Amino acid sequence: MRFFTTEGPVRAADNYCLPPLQRWDLDEVLGLIDRKKYFLLHAPRQTGKTSCLLALMEYLNQGDRYRAVYANLEGAQTAREDVARGMRTICGTIEAAARLYIGDTRLHPWTQDAWQTRGPDGALTGLLEHWSLNSPAPLVLMLDEVDALIGDTLISLLRQLRAGYTQRPTAFPQTVILCGVRDLRDYRIHSSTQAAIITGGSAFNIKAKSLRLGDFTADEVATLLGEHTAETGQVFTPEALVRVWYLTRGQPWLVNALAYHACFEMPAGRDRTRPVTVELIDQAKEYLILNRVTHLDQLSYKLREERVRRVIEPMLAGTEMGVVPEDDRQYLVDLGLLRRDGAGGLVVANPIYREVLPRALAGGPQDSLPHINSTWLNADGTLNPAHLLDAFLAFWPSGVGTGNRSWAAPLIMRSLRTWS
Ligand SMILES: Nc1ncnc2c1ncn2[C@@H]1O[C@H](COP(=O)(O)OP(=O)(O)OP(=O)(O)O)[C@@H](O)[C@H]1O
Ligand SMILES: [Mg+2]
Repeated sequence: MRFFTTEGPVRAADNYCLPPLQRWDLDEVLGLIDRKKYFLLHAPRQTGKTSCLLALMEYLNQGDRYRAVYANLEGAQTAREDVARGMRTICGTIEAAARLYIGDTRLHPWTQDAWQTRGPDGALTGLLEHWSLNSPAPLVLMLDEVDALIGDTLISLLRQLRAGYTQRPTAFPQTVILCGVRDLRDYRIHSSTQAAIITGGSAFNIKAKSLRLGDFTADEVATLLGEHTAETGQVFTPEALVRVWYLTRGQPWLVNALAYHACFEMPAGRDRTRPVTVELIDQAKEYLILNRVTHLDQLSYKLREERVRRVIEPMLAGTEMGVVPEDDRQYLVDLGLLRRDGAGGLVVANPIYREVLPRALAGGPQDSLPHINSTWLNADGTLNPAHLLDAFLAFWPSGVGTGNRSWAAPLIMRSLRTWS
């Protein structure tokens, strides 16, 4: 039985899903590949980037025009600015991906050759050159999580790709697709060796285009939830469908998480003869928020960054944002925290984030509130006016109008009587 997934890329055999290749303009993507372009795919966390790349790889490998390989470079993050360590990991990851996805086991010696002759700053260029020259069809290489790389390691990757670019498609990949959260243009890469900030745009000025993957539309949300109905017979009431769209605005992970919790975890939702109602969806939403699921926790974590708070805090408080650089505002849109509404203004991306963000901001102060011993309540929780009066008189600053404390008692008693 298939189910909604929230863990990584979707697999059509196991998970309800929208065909990933229909989520972007496939003709445009294939056109870019045919024209030997190098381009970027970017979108906020958990939008479906990896699912799209894996589906594209499978699609291309079914034909014989190209050989496509997907590699996730995340492993090189811990190398930080150690280019030699980072490049070893990157080359090793590409070798393993070639073995796994197209059964090509020849790459390792090519990396070693290139390493000896060109060192870490030329090893990747050498490997890709050798591989392309020995490939039965032009290569399409998809490098995921590129923005996990840091400083000089990232710069070295971009420059090595640029160095081989003119040799494509015979002696370098026909296409390289870089994938990450931000548009490469917006990367500001700190190079320790050059003691300078290098922008992604300048380090990789061969990029033809940046494609941005969007969230689901309302129709796509209904189609995805409809897969569950088709497979189990359990319907979502029309109001519940509207509610899922309203709460998530189509954010793919949130849609799946709400539906999974409502249909697979909550006892009432597991009964396939009962429809999924607005109440179930609302309870699922509460669960996700209160349990600080990873997706929401990752967003809250971003609030530690000063430039994120600078934009978010005034928005939530309904006050003027003041002068905030466009780059900072765009950063929040790229992270998926904000979106532009119909009039072009910035709004929090969806009602679930809107509920989570103030809680995360208030978390610190809330946790540090002193514990209040409510002596003015009876054991059954009802108000005890006499004890309240004592507590108030004890609280009343002793230096302020000490002589007047006597008038406070009848005043408070009268107020309490009126109130009760
Ligand atoms: N085609 C799809 N149909 C239905 N749900 C999808 C689809 N693509 C993505 N999702 C939802 O988004 C989640 C994340 O998918 P995926 O790992 O492909 O995204 P990503 O953008 O690569 O995420 P990350 O930023 O964590 O790398 C999935 O677990 C699923 O909940
Ligand atoms: Mg991914």
